[in-house]
Amino acid sequence: MILPITVYGNPILRKKAQPVTKDQEGLKELIANMYDTLAAAEGVGLAAPQVGQSLRLVIIDATPFAEDEPACKDFKRTLINPEILDFPTDEEVKFNEGCLSLPGISEDVWRPDKVEIRYFDENFVEHQEVWNGMRARISQHELDHLDGKVFTDHISPIRRRMLGGKLNAMIKGKATARYKILNNK
Ligand code: NI
Repeated sequence: MILPITVYGNPILRKKAQPVTKDQEGLKELIANMYDTLAAAEGVGLAAPQVGQSLRLVIIDATPFAEDEPACKDFKRTLINPEILDFPTDEEVKFNEGCLSLPGISEDVWRPDKVEIRYFDENFVEHQEVWNGMRARISQHELDHLDGKVFTDHISPIRRRMLGGKLNAMIKGKATARYKILNNK
């Protein structure tokens, strides 16, 4: 089932999300719905607060980047209670990021090119892995959502001011997107 995506200005996007428990009610269905929602929106990552659930749950589909980055081939991951343990490199890279919760906006964001991450998959099996490139990019963006952050928090105040009109329109419930959104009231 495709769920409506929350928009910038919705308080849930600024909340610290709660850990997922092993007996979390409706977890399987929520994950399935998130994959449906991500596919319909043609996105590469989605965090539970973006579908109105303040839970530490993220899905990633990096397969659109497989041509440039072979590591992204078949890379679909469900991350439950994920944690970045380390940034094993000092190298930061720039990428023009967007977010399904901020339709119509994209900005260059600098982030470390490598993460060491620990998470539980949909079967609650623990994984500890090192990801670089787009896998590192997407995971950092999505994990930010679990701590109430969005990508515009990483850009310069000048750039943010230039986006002011668009951000205000979102806050006021006037966002439009080519996918299903939950406009602010
Ligand atoms: Ni996002």
